[in-house]
Amino acid sequence: MMTRYHVLAGLSALLLIACTHQASVDGPLYRNASAPIEARIDDALSRMTLEEKIKLIHAQSKFSSAGVPRLGIPELWTTDGPHGIRTEVLWDEWDQAGWTNDSIVAFPALTALAATWNREMSALYGKSIGEEARYREKDVLLGPGVNIYRTPLNGRNFEYMGEDPFLSGTMVVPYVQEVQKNGVAVCVKHYALNNEETFRHTTDVDLDDRALYEIYLPAFKAAVQEGGAWSIMGSYNLYRGQHVCYNERLIMDILKGEWGFDGAVISDWGGVHETDAAVKNGLDLEFGTWTDGLTMGATDGYDAYYLAKPYRDGILNGTYGTEELDDKCRRVLRLIFRTAMNKDKPFGSICSEEHYAAARRIGGEGIVLLKNERSVLPISASAKRLLVVGENAIKMMTVGGGSSSLKVQHEILPLDGIRRRAGDLMEVSYARGYVGDVGGSYNGVNSGQDLSENRTPAELIAEAVQMAKEADCVLFIGGLNKSNYQDCEGTDRRSLDLPYGQDDVIEALAEANPNLAVVLVDGNAVAMPWIDKVPSVLQAWYLGSEAGNALADVVFGDVNPSGKLPFTFPRQLSDSPAHRDGKSFPNRGKSFYDEGIYVGYRWFDEQDIEPLFAFGHGLSYTTFEYGPARLDKTSLRENGQLTLSVRVRNTGTKTGAEVVQLYIADDESSLPRPPKELKGFQKVWLEPGASAEVKFKIGPEALKYYDPEAGEWIAEKGGFEALVGSASDDIRSRIAFSLK
Ligand code: GLC
Repeated sequence: MMTRYHVLAGLSALLLIACTHQASVDGPLYRNASAPIEARIDDALSRMTLEEKIKLIHAQSKFSSAGVPRLGIPELWTTDGPHGIRTEVLWDEWDQAGWTNDSIVAFPALTALAATWNREMSALYGKSIGEEARYREKDVLLGPGVNIYRTPLNGRNFEYMGEDPFLSGTMVVPYVQEVQKNGVAVCVKHYALNNEETFRHTTDVDLDDRALYEIYLPAFKAAVQEGGAWSIMGSYNLYRGQHVCYNERLIMDILKGEWGFDGAVISDWGGVHETDAAVKNGLDLEFGTWTDGLTMGATDGYDAYYLAKPYRDGILNGTYGTEELDDKCRRVLRLIFRTAMNKDKPFGSICSEEHYAAARRIGGEGIVLLKNERSVLPISASAKRLLVVGENAIKMMTVGGGSSSLKVQHEILPLDGIRRRAGDLMEVSYARGYVGDVGGSYNGVNSGQDLSENRTPAELIAEAVQMAKEADCVLFIGGLNKSNYQDCEGTDRRSLDLPYGQDDVIEALAEANPNLAVVLVDGNAVAMPWIDKVPSVLQAWYLGSEAGNALADVVFGDVNPSGKLPFTFPRQLSDSPAHRDGKSFPNRGKSFYDEGIYVGYRWFDEQDIEPLFAFGHGLSYTTFEYGPARLDKTSLRENGQLTLSVRVRNTGTKTGAEVVQLYIADDESSLPRPPKELKGFQKVWLEPGASAEVKFKIGPEALKYYDPEAGEWIAEKGGFEALVGSASDDIRSRIAFSLK
C-alpha cells in the first residue's frame, strides 16, 4: 500500500537525482550556489580526502585556513578587529605587510557604540564595518567582543559593551546581522569568561550557574540565536579546569547543544594546547597555536598544529573515528559557503563618505555628558579664547591597544577637530599639561607622531595654569591610552586612578579657571578625586577616525549629547565587587567569581553603595520630564503581555534624545535577585516642548531568572515592579503588577 511516507521518499529521491543530474550538467553539486547549502556540504564532504579534511580545520597562515584547492573550495580569510579592518600582515607574522591599499576607517570603540543605547547605531556600525571587511576581501571579522565588564581594570573593556547582559545582548544583534549581510561572518568573542587580561592564558574561572547563565552568557546567546552569528571565538582562559576553546560544557552542552549553534568555533590565537579535547569537544578551526595572541610563535608550524598531524595520526592508528572530523568539516564548509562561496555578496567599500559619516554619528551619539553645572558646555559663542590642555587632545588612539590596532586613512584628533569647528569664532590655544605615552607604533604601524617632551611636570602645569587664567573656557582632554597597563590587550590597569599626574593638572586648572570641562578619552571607569571642583565632565571614549569631529560636534553643541553609561563608575576601586575586601587581582590561577550575579549596578544597588556615576547615567543640553508610568493591566498571565506607557517631554530649550530605561524588580522570589535589572530601553528624540508616549511590552521573558536546580529559566508567580527612568539611579516612575 502506497503511504504518504513512500510518496515523500519518492519525491525527495527525485529531487536529489534532479539536483545531481543538474549538478553533473553544471559541475559538482557543491559548486551549485543555488542548491541547498546542506546538500552542497554533503557533496563536498563526500569528495574530500582525509588529508584535505585535516587541512580544512586549521590555519595555513597567521589569519587564513586552506580551503580545498583541488575542489576549488577557497581559502578562508579572517581579520581583526571589532573597530575596523586590521592592516594586512605578513604570511606568518604579526607585523604588517606594508601594503599601501589597506588603510581603512576606524569606527568608535564598542564601549562608545554601547553608550549610544541605540539599536540603529549598532546596525549602521555593522553595515559600515561589514562593507569595509567585504571590500578587503575578508570572510570572517574577528569581532564583536561582548565580554562583561566585571572589573574596571580589565585592559580590553574598551572593546566590549559594558556590564549589563541585556544592553550587550541587545546591542550586539544588529551589528551581527548587518555585518553578515555582506557575506562576511562575525566571530563573536571571547566566548566565554575572559574578563581580565594579565593571566588570560592561565586563569581558571569558576562561578555559580546563575551568574554564568544570567550575566556572562546572554550576550553570546543573543548573538547566536537572534543575530545568527556564523562563528564564535573560544577564549584563552579555562573554565572549571578545562580550556574554553574545547570546553565540553561551554562548547558542546551549551553553545552547540542548548543554543543549537550551527556555525564554527574558532580558537583564539594560541588558545589550543592539546589534541584530544580539541577533537572531542567541538573546536572547529585552530588558529595561532604557540603564539600568545600577540607575539611570535613557532614559524610555519601549521602541520604540527594539534588538529593537524597529531589528529591525522590519531585517525590512522584508530584512536579517533572520523565522526568528529566530519562535523568540524561540515561547520567550516558551511562557513565557507556562507562567505567565500556566497554568490550573492555585495561588493563592499572602504573609506567612503558614508563610513566616515557613520563613524562621526555613532561617536557623537555615544559621548556621555556626565556632569554639566553652569552649562560650561556647550562652549558659549561669546567665548573668544579657548584653551585646550592634555596629551589626549593630540595623541592618535587608533594605533596600539593590541589586536584591535588599526592603520587608518585618517584620524581627526580632538585638538584638530576643535580648531576646525572653532574656525575664526575664537582663538584656540593648546598646552600639553602632562606627558603620558610618547610612543605610537604597533606591529609595524606607526602613528608618525613625535610626542617627545623635555619639560618637567611642574613646568607643564605652570604653563597650562598661566594660559588658563587668560582663557574664557578650558577643555582638559586626558584619560587613558592604548599603551600597556592602560586600555590595552594582554595587560590590565594597575589602578583606578588617572595616570601621568593628570589629577594634579586638573586640580590646578580648576583653581585657575572655573569654566573648566574635563574630557575623558578612554574605555574604562577612572577615579575623579577632583570631581567636586570641576563643573563639567564628558566621557568621550575612543572614537576612531572621526574622533575630533565627533567631539567638536558635542562640545560646540551641534550635537546634543544623548549617550548613557554602559558601566558603573565606582568612587573607589574597593567599591567594585571584583575588588572588595582587598581581593587579589589579577588572578593568575583559580578565579571564583564569588559576587555571583551581583555585577555592576546589581552590586551597587544590593550593597547600597553610591557610585560616582551610575550605569545608564547621561545628561543632555536639554531636560526631560517623565509622566507617571501606566500599565494596560495590573496582572500578567503565563503567556501574556503587559504594555507599559510613559509620556516623556522635552522641558528644555534644545532638541535632544533621551534613553528611557525600563528596569524590573521581583518583589517575591524564591531565589535571591538583584534589586532591579534592565529589561528594556528606547531612545526618543524630542523638540523643545514636545512629548512622546514611550511604550514597552512586558512579557514573562522580562521576569525570569535562571534556576540552576531546574536547569531552566523561571518566571515565578507573584508581585513585580516596573521602574522607568533616565538612569539606574534616576528612576522617575514605578508601578506594581503581578504574574498570575
Ligand atoms: C588575539 C586576541 C583576539 C584576536 C586574535 C587575532 O590574541 O585575543 O581578540 O582576534 O588574537 O589577533
